Amino acid sequence: MIGACTGRPVSITGLGCYAPERVLSNDDLARMVDTSDEWIQTRTGIRERRIAAPEQATSDLCLPAAEAALRDAGVQAIDLDLVIVATITPDMLFPSTAALVADRLGARRAAAYDLSAGCTGFVYGLAQGYAAIAAGLAARVLVIGADTLSRIVDWSDRATCVLFGDGAGAVVLEPIERRGFHAFELGADGAGGLELYMPSGGSRRPSSAETVAAGEHFMRMNGREVYKFATRVLLSSARAVLDISGKSVGDIDLYVPHQANLRIIERAAKKLKIEEERVFVNVDRYGNTSSASIPLALEDARAEGRLKDGMLVLMTGMGSGLTWGSSVITWTEGREDER
Ligand code: UT7
Repeated sequence: MIGACTGRPVSITGLGCYAPERVLSNDDLARMVDTSDEWIQTRTGIRERRIAAPEQATSDLCLPAAEAALRDAGVQAIDLDLVIVATITPDMLFPSTAALVADRLGARRAAAYDLSAGCTGFVYGLAQGYAAIAAGLAARVLVIGADTLSRIVDWSDRATCVLFGDGAGAVVLEPIERRGFHAFELGADGAGGLELYMPSGGSRRPSSAETVAAGEHFMRMNGREVYKFATRVLLSSARAVLDISGKSVGDIDLYVPHQANLRIIERAAKKLKIEEERVFVNVDRYGNTSSASIPLALEDARAEGRLKDGMLVLMTGMGSGLTWGSSVITWTEGREDER
């Protein structure tokens, strides 16, 4: 799916994030599995990640992020028309985490649903929110990317457990005078679905004592294949979305790719010819937080003064499905008079 946002201008008018307090360092992991800080940093760029407290589920991570985004936008929950939670670790298979979050926020007028597109979920959610507003179905949409991957990671598997962390990021989308979103490009290749998946707990293999004994309730990943896929789609999707939006690589002020692995990011940036100063990286602090990774990066970039009003931002997510998605947006900060 690809398209330029030629209709009613829509933008991000509020941003908020939440990362659990507990920090798990590479040295902590080295005490749990046969790994080292040196291996993890060299292969992934990750130094530490956040882990949810035992009583925290994904909706508990969503709530503070959503409240912060609503405050940032100056929007009341009751005025939301739609709440989308992009996650692969919902509180339960159903009801949707979005419905639970909407209730706790007091978003009583809103439709609410979960969106499953792995680490691409946040960008898919932006496209859905944008489209709902551009088509006139909604005026205010809350898009949350949140995952508690620590609950589906096999903590005895060194090939995966060192990569992931927990977190949540939320944005409010509204129509404003200036153009925010310029274009989207989204895709999926289910033929690669089993390169990154959770074998049981669904209708094909319902959970049983047998599936639990076999560890099928943990995620499984073919790291090398996902690496190849990621480096490929980061380039193809970025090029496609820039092309349809009529922008060039040189126009981009900040490149915010999904924070999975520093090597993947650096390789994509090099091939796209985006120098380091225009690339945002915080995978060192959070690891791969799936659908929370891009909003967490936007939040840190803004806090560091690297994301400002009027800047052109390129975001690309990729992950399970296999899926990918990019968007080009002009960042519109603090212009309430435009709404
Ligand atoms: O959002 C998308 C989600 N997934 C990703 O983005 C992951 C994409 N893939 C990757 O980032 C990389 O493939 C990994 C970081 C997962 C692995 O890096 P790699 O350079 O592809 O390593 P590898 O799988 O080829 O393994 C190299 C060696 C192996 O040992 P041998 O066979 O050479 O003796 C592994 O057993 O490193 C070993 N290894 C480890 N050693 C220490 C694998 N994991 C670890 C570990 N600590 N944690």
